[in-house]
Amino acid sequence: MDNPYFCLLLLLAFSCFSTRVLSWRHDQQYNEGKNYEGSSDLINLEYHMGPVLASPIKLYIIWYGHWNPNHQAIIRDFLVSLSTSSSFPSAADWWRTVRLYTDQTGANITGNIVLSGEYNDYIYSHGTTLSRLAMQSIIRTAVTAYGGIPLNPYSGLYLVLTSSDVRVEDFCRAVCGFHYFTFPAIVGVTVPYAWVGYSGTQCPGMCAYPFAWPNYSGRPPSNGANNIMGAPNGDVGVDGMISVIAHELAEVSSNPLVNAWYAGDDPTAPTEIADLCVGVYGSGGGGGYAGKVYRDNWGNGYNLNGVRGRKFLVQWVWNPVRKRCFGPNAMD
Ligand SMILES: *[C@@H]1O[C@H](CO)[C@@H](O)[C@H](O)[C@H]1NC(C)=O
Ligand SMILES: *[C@@H]1O[C@H](CO)[C@@H](O)[C@H](O)[C@H]1NC(C)=O
Repeated sequence: MDNPYFCLLLLLAFSCFSTRVLSWRHDQQYNEGKNYEGSSDLINLEYHMGPVLASPIKLYIIWYGHWNPNHQAIIRDFLVSLSTSSSFPSAADWWRTVRLYTDQTGANITGNIVLSGEYNDYIYSHGTTLSRLAMQSIIRTAVTAYGGIPLNPYSGLYLVLTSSDVRVEDFCRAVCGFHYFTFPAIVGVTVPYAWVGYSGTQCPGMCAYPFAWPNYSGRPPSNGANNIMGAPNGDVGVDGMISVIAHELAEVSSNPLVNAWYAGDDPTAPTEIADLCVGVYGSGGGGGYAGKVYRDNWGNGYNLNGVRGRKFLVQWVWNPVRKRCFGPNAMD
């Protein structure tokens, strides 16, 4: 639920970070291979009998704060790409791994995600410093405002995206995003939601890896800026957000009420299907190496195609059949 993004990144990446990074050559960065994609035997991902998001999802975006229209277009295109076919390997192909999860009725997670409404909270209705719980008040504002989005307790999924100038409790310190469900006392019903912040100005090194390097990795990459992977849509913050949004959508779908798919014995700090694969974007990924990904004509890294010729870089998720992290750009 909580996307302890940073802790996992620390764990996966930093143990080997200084040595690995310094040993990289420019031409190796995208194709160095090491079999380090998460080992199956140590992972006790379990189903805890709760529901998954098996019915078609109506996705509603709440843009909180001031948003650049170009950034909004990139995010929208990614969300549409999740259930629209594009050339292989596509964002919809990536979502197929998420669809492998079922509930106790045998129903799979849906492949049908429809962007069904957007609300612009450009007046910062709850201020510029937000607690985690404040996301629920923001949703309430969006569904009660005149001209707002509908409150849809049957198939609604709400995505709150905060702009660069908004501070959020734990953001940049412990998390890049999280998901949870609303309380009837605040919103009126229980609906799943996720929040992701724009990290481009506040903490790209933490939430926009591998487009920016972790701030306290000790030393910058040996080749300086050349060793940082270029962002396929031209904005480190938004391209980093795409992967965090994907991470949260995969987890909210497989664990919407925090009683379905997760590993670990502690439901207050579950390790979910994307948490298991933080920092892995291609074959061989892990340990501070993103894995084998593609380069576009400008040398930027990506691993998925989307609508309108878009390219995205999205972390892998845990595949319950193969029992390892997986994405459609896998080499095997
Ligand atoms: C549903 O999940 C099962 C179990 O993982 C899998 O075998 C099947 O292919 C999935 N169906 C779809 C449509 O993804
Ligand atoms: C680390 O982060 C701080 C605050 O965000 C910033 O001022 C500093 O320049 C960063 N250092 C590096 C090496 O990126």
